[in-house]
Amino acid sequence: MSEDTAAVRVDPPALSPADELALKIFADPASIADPHPLYRKLREIAPVHQSALTSTWILSRYEDCRSLLRDNRAGAAEPGIAAPESTLSNASRRDRDPELRSILFMNPPDHTRIRSLLSRAFTPRRVERLRPEVEAIADTLIDSFASDGPVNLLDALAFPLPANVISALVGVPVERRDWLRPLVAKLTASLELTASEQMVSDAEESSETVRSYLSELMVERRADPGDDLLSAMIAASDGEDRLSENEILSNTMVIYAAGFETTTHLICNTVLNLLRHPEQLEMLRRDRSLVPGAIEEVLRFDPPVQIDGRTAFEDLEFGGRTIPAGHMVMTMLAGANRDPEVYDDPDRFDITRRDQPPVMSFGSGIHYCLGASLARLEGQVVLERLLDRFDEWTLAEEPPWRPQIVIRGVERLDVMFS
Ligand code: HEM
Repeated sequence: MSEDTAAVRVDPPALSPADELALKIFADPASIADPHPLYRKLREIAPVHQSALTSTWILSRYEDCRSLLRDNRAGAAEPGIAAPESTLSNASRRDRDPELRSILFMNPPDHTRIRSLLSRAFTPRRVERLRPEVEAIADTLIDSFASDGPVNLLDALAFPLPANVISALVGVPVERRDWLRPLVAKLTASLELTASEQMVSDAEESSETVRSYLSELMVERRADPGDDLLSAMIAASDGEDRLSENEILSNTMVIYAAGFETTTHLICNTVLNLLRHPEQLEMLRRDRSLVPGAIEEVLRFDPPVQIDGRTAFEDLEFGGRTIPAGHMVMTMLAGANRDPEVYDDPDRFDITRRDQPPVMSFGSGIHYCLGASLARLEGQVVLERLLDRFDEWTLAEEPPWRPQIVIRGVERLDVMFS
C-alpha cells in the first residue's frame, strides 16, 4: 500500500460494548447456539439501547418489552411514518400494501376489526377439536421413523407435523398437503433480519402460488362449506361486516407463515432441552401431569421467536431515555424470558415452575399470538406421544443451528429413540 493511500484510510468507528453484543446476537454464527449470555449481558449493561448498527432501539428487560408491546403509541410501521429501514417492517413488499396486509402488520382500527372477525373463526373450541387429528398426524409420522440408526427429528416430525396441522385447520385436503409444505416453508424465511433479496423474492413467489391455490379452495368452500377455518372465515361476520376475499387470503397465509416453523422449533427445542436435562425427562416419565409445564418451560427457556418489534408513533420513555417518534424498537423476547427481576434463577431449566408471569414467547398486547393454544397443544401431543413410544432418547450429535435469530432453531436434530 502506498503512503498516500495509507494517509486517507479511515478506520471505522469503534463499536460500543453494547453494540458489540448486538453484533454478535444478530450476525455471529458462533453465538447462535447459545445467545442467552449475550442477552443477559446486554440487559445488564444497556437495557434500553440505541444501536448504531441498525439504527434501532433494543429493549431486553421483561417489563420494558411487555409495556412496549402493549402500548398503543407504538405499532407496525405504516407508510408515512419515518421508520428507519428495517427488515422487520419490510419483511414482504406485500405487507406494505394496505389492501393485502395481514393482521401481523396492521394497526388499530383495521387490526381490531380483522382480529375480531378472525377470532370468531379461530376459536379455542376449533383448536381443541383438532386434538385427535394432531394425534393421528403425530402417530403416522412417528410410525415412519427409521428403526435403525438416528432419526432427524426435524425432518421426520417437527417440520411436517405443524404444516399438516395448519393444513388440517384451514381445510386443505390431505392429498394436497405434501405439495403445499415446501411452499409454505419459504414464506417464513423473509421474516428474518438478515433475509436476502433472494429469500424475499422466493417467499413472494411461493406466496403467489399458495395464494392462488387457497383462492381456488375458497371458491370450493363458498359453494360447499366444510367444518374448517376457511369456511368459518367465509362465514364469520360482525353484523353486516365480513372478511373480504383478500383479507381471508392474506390472513390464511400469515397463519401458515407464523404458525408453522415456529412450532417446528418448539418441538425440536423440547426434545433437545429434555435430552440436555435428563433428570427432568425422568420426572416427566414418572408424572405426565408435568407435560404442559414442560412445554411452558421450553417456551420460556428457548423461545422459537427470539425478537419482536414495533415502531414508536410518539416519543416514548424507557429507563429514563426517550425513544423518538418514528424509531424502530426491537424487543428481545428471549432476553425478557430470562430476566431475573421476573423469574427465579432464570438460567435454570425447570419444568416444575409454577405461579410465574406469562412467558413473552407469544408476544403481548393486541398482536398476542393467535395460535398460542394450538402451538401448546401440538407441543404437548408430540411430547406425550414420544414419551409413550420410546423409553430411551439419546442425542446422536450436537445439532447445528440455522444462522437466523428472529425465528431461531436447529438445522437438524439427530436422536436415537428406542
Ligand atoms: C411456538 C409456536 C409459536 C410462537 C413462538 C409464536 C409467536 C408469535 C409471536 C411472538 C407473535 C406476536 C408478533 C407481534 O407481536 O407482532 C405471534 C403472532 C401471531 N401468531 Fe404466533 N407463534 C407460534 C405459533 C402460532 C400458530 C400455531 C399460529 C396459527 C396457527 C400462529 C399465528 C399467529 C398469528 C396469526 C399472529 C398475529 C396476531 C396479530 O397480529 O394479531 N402462531 N406469534
